[in-house]
Amino acid sequence: MKIIVCKDYEEMSRKAVELVAESLRETPAGLVSFAGGETPLGAVHAFADQVNAGEIDISRAHYVSLDEWVGLSDTDEGSCGLFNRVELLGRLEKPFAGAHVINGAAANIEDERRALDAYIAQHGPLTASVLGIGMNGHLGFNEDGVDFESDAHIIPLSDVTKRVMTKYFGEKFHPEYGISQGLRQIMAAKRVILIANGAHKAEILRQAVRGEVTNRVPASILQQHPDCYVVADAAAGAGL
Ligand code: F6R
Repeated sequence: MKIIVCKDYEEMSRKAVELVAESLRETPAGLVSFAGGETPLGAVHAFADQVNAGEIDISRAHYVSLDEWVGLSDTDEGSCGLFNRVELLGRLEKPFAGAHVINGAAANIEDERRALDAYIAQHGPLTASVLGIGMNGHLGFNEDGVDFESDAHIIPLSDVTKRVMTKYFGEKFHPEYGISQGLRQIMAAKRVILIANGAHKAEILRQAVRGEVTNRVPASILQQHPDCYVVADAAAGAGL
C-alpha cells in the first residue's frame, strides 16, 4: 500500500484524480469505477473538469458504477445511480465510450447482478477503481463477513451501514440489501485508490491499513493489492 496523507479534502480529491489520469494514460481503453457517497464528490467533479478541459482522454475508456442500494434507481435521492448520473456522467462534455450504471430498482435484480458481471468481463479488468471506506470497513457493498472471492453480488446490509445510510436519504428508504462489484473484481483492478476524509474515518482506516487482513474489515484485503494507494486527508490519516 502506498499511503498519501494530504492536507485537506481538496488535495485528497486532486491526488486521487491524478492517479486515475495516470492509469488512463497507460491504458486509454480502460475501465474506470468511482464509488458514490460523500467522499468522492470532490474527486468526480475534478475528474469531470479535467476531462472537459481536454486534460484526461476518456473517449476510448468505459465506466462502471461500483454499487447500489437494492430498490433504488438513478432517480432516487441518495442513490449511487443519481450520484453517478448527476455528479459524474452528466457533467462530462466528452463522454466515456460506454457506461454501465447499476439499477438497484431492476425488476429482476439477479439479471442486474449478471449484467454487472458481464460488463466487467467485457470491458475489464478495471484499470482504476476509486473506493471509499464505510464505517464498518466495507468497500462498495462488500460488507463485513463478505467472501473475498466474490464477483458481483447482492448482500444484506450490515447494521452499521443501515445506521449510516440515513445521511443519504433520511427515512425515505429502508433498503435491506446492496448490489455491488465483488472483491475479486476490485482486487483484479490494475490500480485501486482508497480515499477517506474526516476524523470519523481515522479508526476504521487504521484498522484497514495497519490491522490484520480479515473479512471482518473488508478493506484490509487491499493490503494484498500490488498497486493500491490510500489517499487520506489529515484527519482520516491521523492513525496511519
Ligand atoms: C458508495 C460505496 C460505499 C462508500 C462508503 C463511504 O458507492 O461504495 O462503500 O464508499 O460507505 O461512504 P461515504 O463516502 O459517504 O462516507
